[in-house]
Amino acid sequence: MGLRLGDTAPDFEAQTTGGTIKFHEWLGNSWAVLFSHPGDFTPVCTTELGEVARRAPDFEARGVKVIGISANGLDDHHKWVQDINDYGGKFAPTDVQFPIIADEDRQISVLYDMLDYQDATNRDGKGLPFTIRTVFIIDPKKTVRLTLAYPASTGRNFDEIIRVIDSLQLGDKHRITTPVNWKKGDDVIVHPSVSNEEAKTLFPEHTVHKPYLRTTPLKL
Ligand code: BEZ
Repeated sequence: MGLRLGDTAPDFEAQTTGGTIKFHEWLGNSWAVLFSHPGDFTPVCTTELGEVARRAPDFEARGVKVIGISANGLDDHHKWVQDINDYGGKFAPTDVQFPIIADEDRQISVLYDMLDYQDATNRDGKGLPFTIRTVFIIDPKKTVRLTLAYPASTGRNFDEIIRVIDSLQLGDKHRITTPVNWKKGDDVIVHPSVSNEEAKTLFPEHTVHKPYLRTTPLKL
């Protein structure tokens, strides 16, 4: 059974490009994004890791640690990081600083249900399944708050991942949810658990569109 929203992110010990880590210890009290890659020296992943390096300040501003995982060893990872910086640096300075887990024996990929035997488009040279392109957002209590699985053919959209982090962090602080295509600064939805009486004090500027759909600006 795969990981579900609300599960505790499983703990593990691993070799990474930043040294050996115990995952829960490494997480500390931070938010985190764990994202997996089919394999080192693959084209789509090379562009993705460069983008994550470029967006490091955006993750840091939100108190989010990032960590990648790929089913290769540390030697490959270190060589690949040079390629990523070299290629990514053609577009903007790229310096991969976040750790990448070396999951050569795929133990962590199995623990996080990152292998999909049904996906024929995601196989290595021997026909074995690569790690699929997954993302986990983990909160400071180590609870899984988002899971995403992308096909091998399609690079992820890190704007979307940051958008979800913004939504989750805001929803943890205020009794709100966020509507379709919401972006930081847009109006939000008053949580259904907030009574109309409470809404008058909590969100004085709110608008009632339907009895079950109330929106409000939110000063950040
Ligand atoms: C890629 O990251 O480019 C990739 C990886 C596995 C299969 C297809 C593409």
